[in-house]
Amino acid sequence: MTSRVIPVSSFVLVVFGATGDLARRKLLPAVFQRAVAGQLPDEANIIGVARTQMAEGEFQILARQALEEHVPPSERDAASVERFLTRLRYVAVEALGEDGWHELALALEPFQDRVTVFYLATGPALFSPICERLGRFGLAGANARVVVEKPVGRDLASAQAANAAIGRVFPEERTYRIDHYLGKETVQNLMALRFANGLFEPLWNAAHIDHVQISVAESLGVEGRAGYYDTAGALRDMVQNHLLQLLCLVAMEPPARLDAGAMRDEKVKVLCSLEPITAANAAHNVVRGQYRAGASVSGPVPGYLEELELDESTTETFVAIKAGIKNWRWAGVPFYLRTGKRLSTRVSEIVITFRPVAHSVFASSAGPVAANQLVIRLQPDEGVQLWLMIKDPGPGGMRLRQVPLDMSFATAFGLRNPDAYERLVLDVVRGSQTLFMRRDEVEAAWRWIDPILEAWSHPAAELPLPYAAGTWGP
Ligand code: BG6
Repeated sequence: MTSRVIPVSSFVLVVFGATGDLARRKLLPAVFQRAVAGQLPDEANIIGVARTQMAEGEFQILARQALEEHVPPSERDAASVERFLTRLRYVAVEALGEDGWHELALALEPFQDRVTVFYLATGPALFSPICERLGRFGLAGANARVVVEKPVGRDLASAQAANAAIGRVFPEERTYRIDHYLGKETVQNLMALRFANGLFEPLWNAAHIDHVQISVAESLGVEGRAGYYDTAGALRDMVQNHLLQLLCLVAMEPPARLDAGAMRDEKVKVLCSLEPITAANAAHNVVRGQYRAGASVSGPVPGYLEELELDESTTETFVAIKAGIKNWRWAGVPFYLRTGKRLSTRVSEIVITFRPVAHSVFASSAGPVAANQLVIRLQPDEGVQLWLMIKDPGPGGMRLRQVPLDMSFATAFGLRNPDAYERLVLDVVRGSQTLFMRRDEVEAAWRWIDPILEAWSHPAAELPLPYAAGTWGP
């Protein structure tokens, strides 16, 4: 089976933070993959922007290394890599100063009639100064769009300030707040599962669902992002955005259409219906942890403090929250959100556990009647499983057994699963905002997160609980 490739119009992608982790690990490989797939017009190009002065050709060397490290050999041949490198240019720009902006404007001059995407793969503190300068140097015209990475801000006040600063230069319809979880294939599939099947909707409520678990477990540690991570922690890095977005997609009402306005309206309603976590109930509903030395699949690994060479830090690398949604559909159904670094394995999934049968007609010798579960596996081994009870086949009387109706997307369709960034970067070029977060959404998420941060900052708050790397957390 082959995938369908819909070419996009010509564009120029300007990546701020072009020498950083995100650009090397995700953005350059994503655009490369779309080029190889034949989706990019020949003239589409990329301008890398960062502080470092580079000699002619140096950015190409960095990009080549990035592709070698982050694109599997079977998906890149020498000729495609060489062709891709000819699309790249580099301009050194001082985001907080005046140097380089004029040169950037000159580099963009020939492309004024094209869609220009400014991708800010930088820390949130730079969003405002970069946007201000893009405006001042005349680079934010009608064809220009800005993409900002999560987390936008580090609490509600800073997110509002960042959104206001971006909004002074770019109107909302040209602002793309990225949450790459929304571009994952299986997350898209959640929409298909819920809204293209009549089967689930009558059951999708508190009368039939017992609880929902949303877990994003990572086996890796902080991976060279110490400076950022220690000021963020799992709550800001993962829960405020990825986990709450997944919760919204599970819990939202069916939108009238799958367009940006209708989808985001429904997600905001969920965020505004979350039961507040307060200083008084945080200890009961939230657990935070920090990893100590332990073992990963590849051998012994140091603890968080040793890995970051810190004497002390209360930054959480694990968080679990019992959340609730105060509306008719979900009242009383716990949503367990859980994420952590250096856990035993990498797995992200959403598990919907239905209510048990009202009464068991079976003798105790048949074994327990387990509740049905719908498991939506985001990674690895993307797919959906519906766990049902059946009679154990063969003689031996009535014995019950739980089996999955199993749909593994990779095996079923035999396709390469495109990385979320491939879809999302091209959505910006297409002008499709459905998979991006609107300003009020980001702020509503912070409004729920802020009291948890406040509760943790209280001197009497319990410190993060230690857990050994390679385990399932505290
Ligand atoms: C990023 C976080 O947004 O998501 C990282 O900043 C995290 O800390 C990553 O590792 C996880 O993404 P994925 O796609 O590998 O699950």
